[in-house]
Amino acid sequence: MRKPIIAANWKMHKTPAETEEFLKNFVVLARDEQRVDIVIAPPYISLAAASSAIGQNDSIRLAAQNMHYEQSGAFTGEISPLMLRQMLITYVILGHSERRSLFGEDDALINKKVLAAHQYNLRPILCVGETLDERDAGKIETVLTTQLTGGLKDISPEQMVGTVIAYEPVWAIGTGRTATPEQAQEAHAFIRKTIASLYDADTARKARIQYGGSVKPGNMAELASQPDVDGALVGGASLESGSFWEICRAAAEEAGRKSE
Ligand code: PGA
Repeated sequence: MRKPIIAANWKMHKTPAETEEFLKNFVVLARDEQRVDIVIAPPYISLAAASSAIGQNDSIRLAAQNMHYEQSGAFTGEISPLMLRQMLITYVILGHSERRSLFGEDDALINKKVLAAHQYNLRPILCVGETLDERDAGKIETVLTTQLTGGLKDISPEQMVGTVIAYEPVWAIGTGRTATPEQAQEAHAFIRKTIASLYDADTARKARIQYGGSVKPGNMAELASQPDVDGALVGGASLESGSFWEICRAAAEEAGRKSE
C-alpha cells in the first residue's frame, strides 16, 4: 500500500510572516493526520520560518522548489543540496514545468539535480507532463517516456522508490482545467508501466505518483480514488490553509477507503 503524498507548491508566494500565519492555522488542522504525507514547499526565504512554525510536528514535511546540483561554488543566485539538507528539508521539487519552460531546464540538467538530491538524502519530486500541443499531437507517451528516461538516468531502484513522480499536464497548471480522473489515471498507469520497464514490477508498484494541475478541494477525492494516483502537487489551492487542509483531508479519506 502506497502512502499518498500531498504537497503544496507555493511558487513565488508568501513572505516569512505570511508563512508563519498560514502554518499557525494549518499545524493545528494537520496535527494528527497520519494517513497521508503532507509537504509544504515555500520559497527558499520562508523555509526557516516554516521550519520553526512546524516545530516538532512530524506530520508536515518541508520541500524546496528547486536547487542547484553542486554542493557549493560560483553559482550566483543558486542554493545547494547541502544548504537545503541543513535547513531540515525532506523533499525537493525538480523539473517543474515552469522551470522547464521559463528557465530553460532540460532533462539532462534535471537528472543532475535528481542524482544530487539523493546524494544528500533529499527526496526528489520529479515533475513530468505534456503541453496541450503535445497532447493534441498524440505525443503524451513519447513526452513522458523521454522525461522519465532522461530524469531518472543512473538512479538506482532503491533511489527510485524514494523518488516521487508528479504528473502535471502543463495545460492543467494554473488554468482551472483539471485533467479528468480518467485522463489522470491513464497517464499515471503509463508512468508506472514505464518505471516497470526502466526498473522492475516491484519498484513500479512501490513508486508514488502524484497528480498536479488545478487540484482543488472539490476534485481531490475523485482524482485520489484512481488506482494509480498517489496524492497531489497543489499550486493555487494550497495558498490558503483551509483549502489546502480540505484537499489533504479528502485524499486521506480516500486513502482510508482504498486500504479497506
Ligand atoms: P496549480 O499548480 O494547482 O495552481 O494548477 C500546480 C503546480 O504547478 O504544481
